[in-house]
This record gives sequence, C-alpha cells and structure tokens, in this order.
Amino acid sequence: MPDFPAESASGVPPAAEPPAGPGHTGPLIGSIRLASPVVQAALSGYSDRAMRVLARRHGAAYSLCEVLIDTFVAVVGTNKRNLARIAVAADEHPVGGQLMGSNPDDFAPAARRLVQAGFDVIDINFGCPVRKVLGRCRGGYLLSVPETALEIVSRVRDAVPEHVPVTLKMRRGIDDSAASADKFWTIFEGAFARGAAAITVHGRSVQQKYVGPSSWEFLAGVKRQAGKRVVLGSGDLFSPQACVAMLEQTGVDGVSIARGAIGNPWIFRQTLALLAGLPPLPQPTLFEQAEVLREHFSLAVELYDEELAGRTMRKFAIKYARLHPEHLAVRDAFVAVQTNADWTAVLARFYATDAPGRDPSQDIDETGECGA
Ligand SMILES: Cc1cc2nc3c(=O)[nH]c(=O)nc-3n(C[C@H](O)[C@H](O)[C@H](O)COP(=O)(O)O)c2cc1C
Repeated sequence: MPDFPAESASGVPPAAEPPAGPGHTGPLIGSIRLASPVVQAALSGYSDRAMRVLARRHGAAYSLCEVLIDTFVAVVGTNKRNLARIAVAADEHPVGGQLMGSNPDDFAPAARRLVQAGFDVIDINFGCPVRKVLGRCRGGYLLSVPETALEIVSRVRDAVPEHVPVTLKMRRGIDDSAASADKFWTIFEGAFARGAAAITVHGRSVQQKYVGPSSWEFLAGVKRQAGKRVVLGSGDLFSPQACVAMLEQTGVDGVSIARGAIGNPWIFRQTLALLAGLPPLPQPTLFEQAEVLREHFSLAVELYDEELAGRTMRKFAIKYARLHPEHLAVRDAFVAVQTNADWTAVLARFYATDAPGRDPSQDIDETGECGA
C-alpha cells in the first residue's frame, strides 16, 4: 500500500469515545468513531470548508465536502480556486471527500488525491439526479448499472490506504420499479462485501429528484437488512425534531442533515440537545445570528479571494435570512449586497438586537441544484 503524505493534519483521527448518555453514541465509520449520530451532508455549492468548519463548531460529528468530479480532482493543480475546493481545515477532522464520475479507471487517482489533501473518508456519489449528470452516466445513473457501480467501489477501496474508510451515498433507486429495487440491493450488499464502511441512503428515487417525501419506511427496511452494518439516513431533515424522529422511526445509525443545515448550523446542537433528553434549545437571537454570519464570512474569506467569498456568502446569507423575523426584507437586502460595506450595513440594520430568531423549519420548499 503506498504511503500518502497529508497536506493538513490527517491520518486516522483518534477513535475518541463519544460522551456517555442516551442518544449520543455515534456510529463507527470504519476505524472512525463519530461522537454523535448527527452529521453534515454533502451539499454541492454549499459544503465547502467554511460551511463544514462551522457545522463542526456547532456540534456536527462529521461532515462531507460537496461532491467533486473525479477527473477534476485528479488534475486539480495549483490554482487557488481549485485548491479551495479540496481544502481541509486542521480542526475539522473527521471529514469526508465525495467523488462522482462514470469511468471506474478515473476514481483511483482522484481518491488518492483526496486522501493526500487530508480527507479522512472517501465517499462515492451514486445519487445525484441532475439531468446533465445522468446524461454523463454519473451520480444516480450508476444505480442502474450495478456492475459498474461495484467496480468503482472496488477501485476506490483498493486505491486508498486500509485505514481510510470508503462509503457510499445512494438514493433508494432510479425509480419505483422492481428492477430498480433489485439493483439497489445488489449495489448495497455488493458494496459492503467489497469493504464499504457505511452507506448513506436518501429515501427518494432519482426520478423523484426532490418532489415528494423521502421514504423513511424504505430507510427502516434498509437498516433492518443492514443489521450491524452502518447506515445513515437522508431526506426531509429540516428540524431537530425530524432528526430525532428519523433515528427513532427507522433505526438508522445517523442522520445526514442537508438542506436543513444551510444557513442554520444551530440545527446540530438543537438535535443533540433533544437526543440528550433536554428541552428544545431556543432559536438563536439576532445577535447570535450576526455573530455566526460574521464568522462564516471570515471563514469564506480565508478560503477564497474576496470576490468569491462575497458571492458565496450572499448565497448562504439568503438562507440565514430565514431565521430572521423579517426574513423577506432581510433576504432582499442580502441579495442586493455588492461590497463589504453593504454587507456590514445589512448586519447593522437588521441584526443589532437580541430579538429571538424565527423557526424556519416549516417553510423549506426548495429543489436541489446538484443533489443526491
Ligand atoms: C443544493 C443541494 C446540493 C446537494 N449536493 C449533494 C452532494 O454534493 N452530494 C450528495 O451526496 N448529496 C447532495 N445533495 C443531497 C443531500 O445531501 C440530501 O441527500 C438531500 O438534500 C435530501 O435531504 P433533505 O431532504 O434533508 O435536504 C444535495 C442536495 C441539495 C439540495
């Protein structure tokens, strides 16, 4: 097995014992013990280093980088913006890197590059439902060709050191046909047999994209079939109550919070509190929100140049605005932001009070951009 020098502190994170107490035990992903079952999902266009670091500071036990195309990763080079996409922070371990592609041959060099960049886990995307992705035989398309999907799993498993867990992200199938279900199970069982350490399942089909609910009954069936093997659940996790309900109703080993965490890192600690049997934590006050908005902005500036940080932050700020009592006015103000001075002015105008924030969990109605 080749030796992989890490660019940032990597290797096997210590298998720290999770804090004792009901609901706090996290699953083992290969050799990596998660401190809790509450995880930040991969989110294309969002889960960059800045979002992930913030998620970890707010209680997520683990987080995943947005999906990266295998051929891009293999030739990432020295361009600052490209390097930002595979950047790992010293204080965010354990962290997963996710790959998407079509040709099994292309995965091994990309997986090795992600390990070299400091990622602790390599996740493979078999879920993205975006038409352009399916047309290139990537993401969710691979659920229709189990032989290729399993070949990819084997190539990645063989490419990275033994201590680096390989995991999968799957949807419940291409569609609701019996043939699709068969293929799901072939990949699911075959991947574990080839050494996958855990599988995250999104309970929507690829055909469904984001329309209609994620089938938690399907997730319950997957966990029954998995037995002791680790399964994380995904879909419709928009509130701490929903996260706890998924764990209770399906028996999955962890919840992978996606849209519910964009502009709402507080959801992690709120979920942990409920799992510990504590009363629900209040929504963050506007002071607290402003502090986190500033923290997020400074993490983005560390990662990108000012211009890209500004553009990225606008996208997030629109989501943060959902926690503001005047959310539509705040959203419009963030949309109009051009300069750092504008940004500061919006914070000063709308966030200079300790009024409580609103609960945005009832009004999420979005579709994914490059989801899985
Ligand atoms: C904007 C967006 C980007 C996404 N990007 C990824 C991705 O890069 N990799 C992945 O595995 N899933 C991705 N997903 C899927 C989510 O991780 C998650 O499975 C899905 O949103 C269902 O969870 P939710 O209903 O709680 O949001 C994305 C979803 C959205 C909405």
